[in-house]
Amino acid sequence: VRHEEKQFDALSRQIEALLQGGETYPHCVEIHPTDFCNQACSYCFHGGVGEDVSRRGEMFTVDDYCALVDELAEIGVEELSVSGGGEPLLYRGIGALLQHVVRSPLSLRVVTNANVIPPDAVDALTEAAEVRVSLDSVQPEVYNRQRGLRGGNLLGRTLNNLRQLRAARESSAGRVRLACTFLISDVNQHEIESFARTMLEDVGVDTVVYKQDIYGRIAADDPAVRHRLDELSRVYGDRVEARDEQLDEPIGGPCVVSYSKVAFNPYGELYSCCLGSQPGERNGLRFGSLRDFGGFRQLWAASAATRSSMVHEGVSCQDCNHTDRLINITARAALLAGQSRR
Ligand SMILES: C[S@@+](CC[C@H](N)C(=O)[O-])C[C@H]1O[C@@H](n2cnc3c(N)ncnc32)[C@H](O)[C@@H]1O
Repeated sequence: VRHEEKQFDALSRQIEALLQGGETYPHCVEIHPTDFCNQACSYCFHGGVGEDVSRRGEMFTVDDYCALVDELAEIGVEELSVSGGGEPLLYRGIGALLQHVVRSPLSLRVVTNANVIPPDAVDALTEAAEVRVSLDSVQPEVYNRQRGLRGGNLLGRTLNNLRQLRAARESSAGRVRLACTFLISDVNQHEIESFARTMLEDVGVDTVVYKQDIYGRIAADDPAVRHRLDELSRVYGDRVEARDEQLDEPIGGPCVVSYSKVAFNPYGELYSCCLGSQPGERNGLRFGSLRDFGGFRQLWAASAATRSSMVHEGVSCQDCNHTDRLINITARAALLAGQSRR
């Protein structure tokens, strides 16, 4: 089951609890082990934030993360998403951290540029539920342009890493679903078809995900682009996933995302969503720091009033990612229907 589908399944379970005025723990917790990134993608919603070197000493350690993972497992959180912020596989100690997660009951998902895969992370990655590699192109010059690189062939290295991960999965009977994303832009839209062909037929990933820029700088709902994506789905079936969420929905209003998925920045501070969790971002709300509470349970309890006000009084976020926006639309409809039944 895809990550997004799992989120919607969890949401339907949580809506009932919300209607009763009850409390649930989130289905998914996302961590951003580091803000450091070796790339500067032109579209990145965290773009220009970068690493706060003044806070390096405050970064969560592998031990801090292991304790957090243990507690999340105890309270029934189902999924740990490891993403950024920056590039998670560049966090020192990522191999040990990922090992700990795959030995826990949590389902692991990693979102990465996969330029570097530390050798001690390979086993855990093959045991993850999903590794999603952000690529956007199979042409070195387009890759470099879209990802803010001055030259070199990091694309070649990344494709090699993906092939090696696939081979490691096969030799270890690992279960990881290998996916790669293509964020449609002016720079890469000519290779929509060749990307799917190369990644599915040559590199051998399981799924290709086409995404829109949440800022809507290029419309994947442009009829010509839509037609090309539909054709690809006809050829490759569900190995091609094309997001077609409408981007013209209002952004503010009731927000239930934090009941479904919350995000930690690299310093153990919890935010209501992944778009709030980078320094200086214009979205989401800060719930508090794990360091100021005994653990996740206490931090969660302390955020109850804020979360409730997000549902009942709304938010004024300036942008919202696709899935989060859909979660809000779905939840709003379900809550309204549920309230009118009562
Ligand atoms: C911010 S990156 C961080 C993790 C890692 N460094 C990587 O490259 O995947 C996580 C994901 O956010 C997505 N993303 C960034 N900016 C976006 C935007 N404006 N619209 C939609 N998705 C975006 C990227 O496509 C990527 O898959």
